[in-house]
Amino acid sequence: MKRNLLLLLVFLAAIQPLRADEGMWLPALISQRIADMQAKGFRLSAEDVYSVNQASLKDAVVLFGSGCTGELVSDEGLLFTNHHCGYSYIQRHSSVEHDYLKDGFWAMNRGEELPNRGLTVSFLDRMEDVTDAVLKGYDTSMTEAQRDSVVRVNSRALTAAATAGGKGLRASVEALYYGNQYFLFVFKVYRDVRLVGAPPSSIGKFGGDTDNWMWPRHTGDFSIFRVYAGKDNEPADYSEDNVPYRPKKSFKISRAGVKEGDFTFVYGCPGSTKEYAMSEDVRYVSEFSDPQKIALRTLRLDNIKKYMDMSQAVRIQYSSKAASVSNAWKKWQGEAKGIEKNDVVNVKRDYERRFKAWAKGTRYEGLVERLDSLFNRRNPYYLAYEYYTETARTIELLSFASSVRNNLENPQALANTAESFYKDYFRPIDEENFVALMDAFGKNLPEDFQPAYYKEKMAAYGSAQAWADDLFARTLFIDKDKVLALKAEDSDKVEADPALEMYDAFYDWYNEDLRPVINECNSEINLAYRDYMQGQMDFEKDKAFYPDANLTLRVAYGHVEGYAPADGVYYYPVSTLKGIIEKDDPNIFDYDIPQRLRDIYAEGGHEDQPVCFLATNHTSGGNSGSPVINADGNLIGINFDRVWEGTMSDIVFDPEICRNISLDIRYLLFCIEQIGGASYLFDEMTFVD
Ligand code: ARG
Ligand code: GLU
Repeated sequence: MKRNLLLLLVFLAAIQPLRADEGMWLPALISQRIADMQAKGFRLSAEDVYSVNQASLKDAVVLFGSGCTGELVSDEGLLFTNHHCGYSYIQRHSSVEHDYLKDGFWAMNRGEELPNRGLTVSFLDRMEDVTDAVLKGYDTSMTEAQRDSVVRVNSRALTAAATAGGKGLRASVEALYYGNQYFLFVFKVYRDVRLVGAPPSSIGKFGGDTDNWMWPRHTGDFSIFRVYAGKDNEPADYSEDNVPYRPKKSFKISRAGVKEGDFTFVYGCPGSTKEYAMSEDVRYVSEFSDPQKIALRTLRLDNIKKYMDMSQAVRIQYSSKAASVSNAWKKWQGEAKGIEKNDVVNVKRDYERRFKAWAKGTRYEGLVERLDSLFNRRNPYYLAYEYYTETARTIELLSFASSVRNNLENPQALANTAESFYKDYFRPIDEENFVALMDAFGKNLPEDFQPAYYKEKMAAYGSAQAWADDLFARTLFIDKDKVLALKAEDSDKVEADPALEMYDAFYDWYNEDLRPVINECNSEINLAYRDYMQGQMDFEKDKAFYPDANLTLRVAYGHVEGYAPADGVYYYPVSTLKGIIEKDDPNIFDYDIPQRLRDIYAEGGHEDQPVCFLATNHTSGGNSGSPVINADGNLIGINFDRVWEGTMSDIVFDPEICRNISLDIRYLLFCIEQIGGASYLFDEMTFVD
């Protein structure tokens, strides 16, 4: 009996999956992880995930636009991504009369699908290790600048060769591990992508910026598009003659649902992480960068929110802008807290002490000290640069002035720029932001780091308010008619405008006083990080390393699991329609659900309708819209967020608390049918259960 129990325990220990689900792995190297994935429940092979010889799951995953992921779900180009990824396109089709943001949009047939200028989706054709070719001609005696130019020239030759002759091909060479390795990525880019469906924001953005980055979550964060191609199935500019794209592979959909412990796998394009950073780099983020940027954005958000609450027209104009300002603002708060709570800076310092001891007498000796002093030199300049990007660069009128100048010779482009700017411009917001930001700039940035221009203006006007009053009174850019009447000959007038003068003065300050130091330091930091990265790999021989995210396609696998955000609190991993009804409040914009949803719920039988779920996949910004796949390779959800307490996973992944948030695919199907009345779309999908 005892022996049997012991055997059972040994057996259980062997099948018990490893808990740590950290890592975003390269699909082309997935054979190195597949045994671990299978041990954790995955039932497909490495070739099923990524193959250059046969259709594989990678052929159903796309980079959506320039910063999201999407997945193909039918043989006729149907694509799912997040509502927040389609947001700006939905917004562009919206007006007070046709408010698709507010009311949703559903094409009832192909003819009603809406084209989106500028929107592309990129399919990965292949990726391959090109390190040797990229470094051909490099020798270790070269400077970093010389090495850069070798890398650039070789990369250009590789991408040119990779795209020669193919329609719509784009290639890039990406550095991994700070340039210890290089990979070539070849994409096929489709540029006729049409909007098929989007739920009303009260579903697609339910909970708004209040629930963003939070659990329990009830956001129906999806939108539906269709990829079109020329008759030859190749990429083509928008044309009525284009036909739905026939993908090599599309996802089958599982409606079997998820429960705690189920294997999950996210296939997508995380944007940027720095998991191997040294302590000073992290300290800068949590003690300087995050808190100061948060404070600056709070000022802007307060102004924007005040006016959005006062007018529906302003709400439409600023909803997309506000969402993007608020998104990073909230993420940084969680990140700084998470770094502090996990004592990451000290944990890293401790690691560095052990590394230094090990590195004595090797080529890595002195490296950590060098990085330390580089960060100390760079950081004050970098903070000033971040002030620039979060203040002067966010004043809408100034950036507009600069694009008018750039388009002065081209009347059509000038008219387009002006139209889209004024459509979404509300002067009081911009003016109040100007005042708040220029005040904060002087108060918070050390004087030696302020531009002379700024100091002169503040001295001359006495206050940011007086400066703003004068600038907004004199600038021509506030007046649409004056801007539309500009001709190429008006260049002198444009140049003399106070808005452009300010734009240029801040840019020159950045360009002359900050950028050279930052670039010089960054180049040395990158070089030192390259060695430090290799050093860490040599120091920890048994650890499996994965490259930091850089918007290239990755695989992250884990399982469905809740978490304990605080002492005495546990979050279950699944949310339901019942929770939406509990949050429903017609008086709060973010929680005011469509009447239709209330009615459906009142009919009964929908209490347990699943909405979102949590899992342990290591994801990051850019993974939005990524397919969440079950052990059999079928689609069970769409990734759209992480939990706030775990956003430090871009720097350090804590398996106890880092969770990605996904939309349950069954809620998407529910919305298509019950809210959109568009269940005709089911005909082209494949359901496995
Ligand atoms: N936090 C998610 C992401 O980083 C969703 C953002 C969009 N939603 C919003 N309320 N701003 O992209
Ligand atoms: N919502 C994020 C995005 O736009 C994904 C969430 C995250 O950062 O994990 O990519």
